[in-house]
Amino acid sequence: GETVTVQELAEKLKKTAAEVIKKLMNLGVLATINQEIDFDTAALIAGEYGVEAELKVAVDKEALIMTEPEDDPAQLVPRPPVVTIMGHVDHGKTSLLDAIRQTNVTAGEAGGITQHIGAYQVEHNGKKITFVDTPGHAAFTAMRARGAQITDIAILVVAADDGVMPQTVEAINHAKAANVPIIVAINKMDKPEANPDKVKQELTQHELVVEDWGGDVIAVPVSAKTGMGLDNLLEMILLVAEVHELKANPNRPARGTVVEAELDKGRGPVATVLVQNGTLHVGDTIVVGHAFGRVRAMIDDKGRRVKKAGPSMPVEILGLSDVPEAGDILVVVEDEKLAREVAEKRQLRKREEILKATAKISLDDLFKHI
Ligand code: GTP
Ligand code: MG
Repeated sequence: GETVTVQELAEKLKKTAAEVIKKLMNLGVLATINQEIDFDTAALIAGEYGVEAELKVAVDKEALIMTEPEDDPAQLVPRPPVVTIMGHVDHGKTSLLDAIRQTNVTAGEAGGITQHIGAYQVEHNGKKITFVDTPGHAAFTAMRARGAQITDIAILVVAADDGVMPQTVEAINHAKAANVPIIVAINKMDKPEANPDKVKQELTQHELVVEDWGGDVIAVPVSAKTGMGLDNLLEMILLVAEVHELKANPNRPARGTVVEAELDKGRGPVATVLVQNGTLHVGDTIVVGHAFGRVRAMIDDKGRRVKKAGPSMPVEILGLSDVPEAGDILVVVEDEKLAREVAEKRQLRKREEILKATAKISLDDLFKHI
């Protein structure tokens, strides 16, 4: 792995070599000024000084793989919108997702629809829409906190018999903070107590004025139960997508975001990734958060094996060294050694953060007692 001399480390930390040598001795390492020490040890020393253990080399390598090359505008083509459904508990988010999925399954796919991968695509009038099934807006917020933005359009589900509730307001705030356009789905219209006007009135208190009240917010009355209005909802999603001219370049190495990930007993680490730009291929070398590997297999939302996945397509990927976290960014790296190096440094940094948090004083304490 990476090494650094005592002298170099001292310079980076703005300490004298003697001080660093003394610290090393405390760790049980006897070193001279020109001696090479490994990254782990260097990181520990840096940590001792309360300095971020980021050696410049590591930072540069990470920047190298994370920097997104600018796309040639001529290469950009329209891509499907990525839609997240948000709303108050029990207002029908899951039912709506299920209903949309069911009614848009083509006959041939009917058998394979049981697969659940946290995101799926439907086709409406020959155009694709990607739905991300985030469990509430917790995941949405977590992803945003990690700098990942995957949603193009937020569907705000409000039950017509219940109206705007606390989590409806939260969802509105999240979508607004992320600058994501909102389409309101006024759900449960089949219920006798449904009162869409009350919903619209309550929405105005949160600066969402619907079109038929003179505003610019699209509101679609729907029923997940009867299927009423679902076509209209999909139509509106495509309309908003068109207005926003969502584009990507399929002819470049892929970049994407993890939607969910788990350790599968038989298959090892499995990550559901939404490809956001470029095309991901089986065989690609990838770094995903602190995990890396080669894409061994990809499975689409219908449970079919696929060889490639383009922009806005969700896929399950196999072949990672470790389980990444939701919100982690996937990048394709040509150089396998570099992929491993960056992932390992991230693992180290993660371990170090845990160490720092839990054992700030333990090293000194430990040596006191020997
Ligand atoms: P959480 O995931 O718990 O936040 O709820 P959710 O928003 O996903 O709601 P879910 O889809 O689980 O629906 C909640 C309840 O409302 C269930 O009993 C559904 O059957 C019912 N429901 C959902 N949509 C409709 C609808 O359009 N009409 C009627 N009558 N009931 C609905
Ligand atoms: Mg639900």
